[in-house]
Amino acid sequence: KRVAILISGGGSNMVRLVEDMRAGGIAGEPVLVLSNKADAGGLAKAEAFGVPTTVIDHKGFPDRAAFDAAVSDALDAVKPDLICLAGFMRILTPAFTARWGDRMLNIHPSLLPLFKGLHTHRQALSAGVAVHGCTVHKVTADLDDGPILGQAVVPVLNDDTEATLAARVLTQEHLLYPAVVRKICADEPGQIALSAV
Ligand code: GRF
Repeated sequence: KRVAILISGGGSNMVRLVEDMRAGGIAGEPVLVLSNKADAGGLAKAEAFGVPTTVIDHKGFPDRAAFDAAVSDALDAVKPDLICLAGFMRILTPAFTARWGDRMLNIHPSLLPLFKGLHTHRQALSAGVAVHGCTVHKVTADLDDGPILGQAVVPVLNDDTEATLAARVLTQEHLLYPAVVRKICADEPGQIALSAV
């Protein structure tokens, strides 16, 4: 399968996906890493793997629809079978999710439907939950919504800060996302449930 990965920052999830494809775990090939930020650290990491990259800077467009149309054009050029949003910090228009939603995944750092949106670890600490984690889901027009394909659970510790909790969740993201993408690329049904509790 031809896999495109969209990033906005360090791309640590993208790295794990590319590594697993190159190791033959995921039956796929990375055909594009696209960032909306020119300074995304993940771009250099993708280039080190020899993966084609492109930057489409959202600031260069008059509105969300125009940006999304440019991203669609870049995706049309590589004909992806699967699109993985990985730390991609843009809200996509319904037109875009209608165009690509049949083959687009996202990883969100909470146990959805809990804690949608930003600052999920702060939300979890404020809510006083005992467990937290991350979710891989299919992308729909509704933010952080859509069918859940896998989740990983971590404990919340008494002395946790946003940073220590985020780090514990990120470690699980790096296990969960490749595991889910392996199943998708193998056309295997069913969810992935991981636990570090
Ligand atoms: C991280 O906070 C992660 O939880 C979320 O996106 C952010 C950046 O991830 N999925 P990455 O290192 O760019 O993959």
